[in-house]
Amino acid sequence: MPVAAAPETVTCRGERFRLYLDEEAISNRIAELGAQIDADYADMEEPPIFIGVLNGAYIFTADLMRAVTIDCEVDFYKLSSYGAEKVSSGEVTLKKGIDADLEGRHVIVVEDIVDTGLSMRYVLDQIAAKNPASLRSASLLRKPAALKVDAPVDYLGFDIDNLFVIGYGLDYGQIARNLPAVYILDEDGE
Ligand code: IMP
Repeated sequence: MPVAAAPETVTCRGERFRLYLDEEAISNRIAELGAQIDADYADMEEPPIFIGVLNGAYIFTADLMRAVTIDCEVDFYKLSSYGAEKVSSGEVTLKKGIDADLEGRHVIVVEDIVDTGLSMRYVLDQIAAKNPASLRSASLLRKPAALKVDAPVDYLGFDIDNLFVIGYGLDYGQIARNLPAVYILDEDGE
């Protein structure tokens, strides 16, 4: 089936966004991260478990897992979202915990984006309290200029500008997650 190229601009909730990371750039980078994870966990006895952070990271988690060839498991946390806003509320609320027992496991937290870093920090702290054998993190995107807390990312897709982005799992008031590429707010187009 032919795949249509991602459009150069899209309109979401009346605002214009421009193509920022296309599907090829995203899949190439994820292939590199998968190879890195394969190498890092090849000698571990227990398979690593990916903990995706819902909702935003569901697509990245699925693609990252499929870029990994060693045995691995998956489970999900669900945190509060931005709501319909373009800036973080500064509050992180847990909506769904995880079922898996993480004691003694090799855990990789998977986020869509590290903005203030509060969500990543929250999940890392929650999981660290469960005594995993090791704890690392992956994020497709990070906005270095927005970071407010220490939120380490071991497997990073891309550092990006400090502007609102949508697509590839990231939403604006719950829509736009299904865009196949990442789009950034076009300040000139507002
Ligand atoms: P943080 O806690 O401020 O790092 O933000 C974490 C969450 O806010 C992410 O997992 C996203 O769901 C959401 N978020 C942050 N920046 C953006 C953005 O530019 N677009 C859409 N969602 C975002």
